[in-house]
Amino acid sequence: MKASNTMSNQILLSRELLHKAKEELLNICKMSSRKIASYYHPRLLSNATQLHVSSPKYSTKMNNTADLVTEVDRLIEQDIREYLSEKFPEFGFLGEESGYTNPINASTNTIYWIVDPIDGTTNFVHQFPNSCISIGLVQHNSINIPGHSSTTLLVGMVYHPISDIAYWAIINEGSFQQNLNNDEIFQLSVNKYITSLKHALVCTEFGSYESRYNVQSQESLTTQRTKLANYPVHGIRCLGSAALNLVHVASGQVDIYYQYGIHAWDLAAGVLIVQEAGGMVSSLSNSPFDIFSRNVLACSTLELLKEFHKEIIDGTDTLGILQEFSPDTQPINKQ
Ligand code: IPD
Ligand code: CA
Repeated sequence: MKASNTMSNQILLSRELLHKAKEELLNICKMSSRKIASYYHPRLLSNATQLHVSSPKYSTKMNNTADLVTEVDRLIEQDIREYLSEKFPEFGFLGEESGYTNPINASTNTIYWIVDPIDGTTNFVHQFPNSCISIGLVQHNSINIPGHSSTTLLVGMVYHPISDIAYWAIINEGSFQQNLNNDEIFQLSVNKYITSLKHALVCTEFGSYESRYNVQSQESLTTQRTKLANYPVHGIRCLGSAALNLVHVASGQVDIYYQYGIHAWDLAAGVLIVQEAGGMVSSLSNSPFDIFSRNVLACSTLELLKEFHKEIIDGTDTLGILQEFSPDTQPINKQ
């Protein structure tokens, strides 16, 4: 693991390495996505042959009947771990199914992958065609700067096996959609024209354990949901994959996505893709956003973010909750 005693949180990787990381992520996602696609019925796929005739077997995690895992999740994570640790032996690894390879040392700047082998496992089990692979490359920053997250998101890759489309971002370079069937690439942009909650399409998720995190009670979660349900937004969607919800914001197809109880592996790639597409990300509490803080609010515009906080979350429009992004986000050897 490459560590540094540097007195700054400057990015430790060059542009060249960030691009190499993105290319290798594309390679491993293309390979792994075939395993996911092979469980979907061929009529749903853009380009695949079916290898399995039934849905994957699943079990539940930690007695949470809504938190599913399959053998395919574990196999894909293992493939990704092996591939990435061979290509980048100096980087660490945090995977949803297998945890940390080496614990992150809080006192050094450290680069590591954060991997969700299948985001949208419940969709996968039910053949609902909305699951993906989500991988972020991040830097843990040892120096605590007030108002900043301790994690800088460097590269994000969200791969949708059913359509064979990759969505990716590299810090300070924008977000892109790459269609693997014909290799067309499009730059992504949030919808900058939606500045009022009344005109917004909102996405969120419902899960049995979400109320345990970052809201005072089930009651306050229900109160927020009731407020949203009664607010005259354009619509509310619940699609079952956090990473793809974030991609929808980045693509200008959804204007707001919020959720409690979410994990770093659901967020690491998609949050960077939103930010690089010009979107705003905050926490749902009065503290700076952090991928480990178990909640997220992603909006296409600052106006929407302020209004959502004021009308739905806590009645304030404070901007203290916004993460500062600017300083220290240039790679050491900018190319
Ligand atoms: C889940 C999905 C879902 C969200 C859950 C996540 P998983 O991830 O992102 O949309 O509501 O909170 O845990 O378990 O399918 O990787
Ligand atoms: Ca998962």
